[in-house]
Amino acid sequence: MPDVVLGIETSCDETAAAVMRNNALLSNVVYSQTIHSKYGGVVPELASRAHQKKIVRIVDSALDEACVKKRDITGIAVTSGPGLMGSLLVGLSFAQGLSLSLGVPCIGVNHLEAHIWAVALERKRLKPPFVSLLISGGHTQLIYVKGFGDYSTLGKTRDDACGEAFDKVAKLLGLGYPGGKFIDNLAKKGDSDFHRFPKLGPRGNNYDFSFSGIKTAVLYYLNSISEETKKEHISDICASFQMRVVEVLVDKTFRALKDTGCGKLVVAGGVAANSMLINNMKKRAKIDGVRFYYPSPVLCTDNAAMVANVGMKYLKKGISSNIGIEPKPLLSLKPTFLKGSTAKSKN
Ligand code: KG4
Ligand code: ZN
Repeated sequence: MPDVVLGIETSCDETAAAVMRNNALLSNVVYSQTIHSKYGGVVPELASRAHQKKIVRIVDSALDEACVKKRDITGIAVTSGPGLMGSLLVGLSFAQGLSLSLGVPCIGVNHLEAHIWAVALERKRLKPPFVSLLISGGHTQLIYVKGFGDYSTLGKTRDDACGEAFDKVAKLLGLGYPGGKFIDNLAKKGDSDFHRFPKLGPRGNNYDFSFSGIKTAVLYYLNSISEETKKEHISDICASFQMRVVEVLVDKTFRALKDTGCGKLVVAGGVAANSMLINNMKKRAKIDGVRFYYPSPVLCTDNAAMVANVGMKYLKKGISSNIGIEPKPLLSLKPTFLKGSTAKSKN
């Protein structure tokens, strides 16, 4: 009997569902909530209401696209954290209700773990160990992945997440939300040497990051120039900001690869969709003889395919969660979600 897993993701402002049959991804439907753009950031209460409105339709679309009926589902994977409490609750309640009514197991998936393995949906032969650079709107971490479920964090941000820096700078420039892709697109036409923003900290022999300083540097710089200069050089400003961020990401990541003696790199999370980052990582990987894996943009930003993928791995091992999975807004990468899970025999 093939395993058919429905994945559900509602941790922030994407309502997403996907279907996998064993190793094959059959559908991947993502609805990005637009209501937040006018506020320049995610409004938690609006996010959970929008999830509630959309979740039934999104799950139905994913099943239709996959040509799968509800009765064919053999397991459900749903993000249990980290994320917004109310948003997580919508996905978890829906998934657990469906799991009870169908009589199939449900597994709570760690969103960060799902991001790390997203690339494996396209690069089936990827094998650990590898170093993963996880860069999203809420997280920035360098992780040594020894095996599935075996992670050690080498470094992380001490303040803003990398995607948050993109979003805040985009807001200062009057671009839309989320701002990463707008900066990326404008930067393609810009000169990254136009303005030298200060080098990003923290200094020293560590793998930690800090992105709050560059946002302030951009703010001070914008206050020092006229509106005309800002308009005329917006692409150059985007390229200069982006270059500084990419430089620090490349430097620290390749130092971690060297220090751990690891020859494989995986990037993950929304910022991994950035074209300058991918180009610069590719160039450096070639020089250093590192194998570089990066997902397609649709698998970088939040999606349910990555949740189904990780859920499938656990369900195939006979691991599922007890009913009553609680949302864990601050869940870290340690596989703590296995606590309260039951290892049931598949037979
Ligand atoms: O992984 P993700 O969808 O959500 C979280 O788990 O946080 O990441 C969203 C972040 C946002 O900050 C967004 O601006 C950023 O990813 N992002 C990008 C690009 N596309 C999305 N940042 C830079 N360049 C991009 N092309
Ligand atoms: Zn994410």
